[in-house]
Amino acid sequence: MNFHVLTLFPEMVESGLHTSILKRAMDRDLIHLSCINIRDYTENRHGRVDDYTYGGGAGMLMQAQPVFDACEAVQKSLPAPARVVYLTPQGALFTQEMAADFAKEEDLILLCGHYEGIDERALEAIHAEVVSVGDYVLTGGELPAMIVVDAVSRLVPGVLGNDESAETDSFQNGLLEYPQYSRPESWQGRDVPEVLLSGDHKKVSEWRLAQSLARTRERRPDLYEAYLEKMRQTPMTPAEKRRFARILRESEE
Ligand SMILES: C[S@@+](CC[C@H](N)C(=O)[O-])C[C@H]1O[C@@H](n2cnc3c(N)ncnc32)[C@H](O)[C@@H]1O
Repeated sequence: MNFHVLTLFPEMVESGLHTSILKRAMDRDLIHLSCINIRDYTENRHGRVDDYTYGGGAGMLMQAQPVFDACEAVQKSLPAPARVVYLTPQGALFTQEMAADFAKEEDLILLCGHYEGIDERALEAIHAEVVSVGDYVLTGGELPAMIVVDAVSRLVPGVLGNDESAETDSFQNGLLEYPQYSRPESWQGRDVPEVLLSGDHKKVSEWRLAQSLARTRERRPDLYEAYLEKMRQTPMTPAEKRRFARILRESEE
């Protein structure tokens, strides 16, 4: 999968993403990251990319021309038009579901704003989808773009090794992940739950589901309610229904 990040600070995105698992994935050509400096596309002879906003108000705005031209240059270099995502606090909240949807693309263009944002006409002309990483305002779209690249890359087949599988991660099944433990068995008087040492895979997976349910109910009641609703709609045999009801009870103990 190819990520094309349009930014005024390409070195920030490159240095942030060329580490650990993502670096390994890039070295293995599973994902490719190209950072395009929007400033390279300005027609302003002083290299300017921003100007005052019409109507007054504090702050500068990224101008339409360099943003549009940078995006067009990327689109023209691709075999088919790619989705363009503008990172903005005004966008739809980025979710694991969205990450999975983006992971199906061959190419994804991520547009980072800076200063007060980007001239609305450029966003209209490039048909940008709008995505936010949370209800707070950052100085630029670079960190949000890095978040999107990271979350999407983990879902590209082969990027995570077996030991790092995304399948049990929080949100993958609509629940938060269960608590996890590593060696030693006892640390500062705290013991690893016995069931995890039992070697009984069925018991372990039921305990984990109960823990996931309890944790999600406590920390994210919104997700918990949605999960229960999904389970109500899921066809189950009487035995599966009984098993789920039992685990649900255990999660409440
Ligand atoms: C200071 S912000 C501009 C905020 C804009 N004036 C507003 O109120 O919506 C500068 C840039 O940072 C990025 N940004 C800031 N917060 C963000 C968030 N929560 N999610 C995604 N991008 C964000 C956007 O690319 C934005 O254009």
